[in-house]
Amino acid sequence: MKKILMLSLCAVLAGPTFAADDPVVARQTIFKQFKKDAAAMGKMVKADTFNKDEFSKLASHLDELAQQPWQHFPAGSASGQSKQKTDAKAEIWSKSADWTKAIDNLKAETAKLKQVAANGDVASIKIQFGAVQKTCKSCHDSFRKD
Ligand code: HEC
Repeated sequence: MKKILMLSLCAVLAGPTFAADDPVVARQTIFKQFKKDAAAMGKMVKADTFNKDEFSKLASHLDELAQQPWQHFPAGSASGQSKQKTDAKAEIWSKSADWTKAIDNLKAETAKLKQVAANGDVASIKIQFGAVQKTCKSCHDSFRKD
């Protein structure tokens, strides 16, 4: 009985690790967290009900996440090439200079948002949050299938 329990526990633990080994799953998991943070911040911006500490935490978290997905784009993992369902366009690899620029733009804007959020000036936060959202959209327009 104990052995069976141990084995099923191992199976449970092995599950997510196996999925995370897949680069498509890994990057999509991180992008889902992007969305979660951005949605929570967007809600505050829209309703104009700011919890500045909370917003600041989200901005820091998003800035950390902004460093993470890019290592999970190995060659051969575009849509149509990968076994997993992915929206990654082949342009990621054929226009790699533009791709790198789009990544750098995001990192620059999330770093700035983190800084502006720490200062706590609501007007500046709103403007900078808009700038971050623009970098999401502009990359998706070029490099993600709709
Ligand atoms: C440098 C390019 C780039 C930037 C910047 C970028 N994304 Fe993406 N995003 C992608 C690509 C490429 C995919 C498709 C990944 C795949 O399917 O393999 C994607 C997928 C997604 C997904 C879908 C994940 C899923 O469920 O499969 C969400 C949500 C998302 N991005 C949100 C965001 C948000 C929010 C931002 C800005 C804070 C952002 N992204 C910035 C390139 C980018």
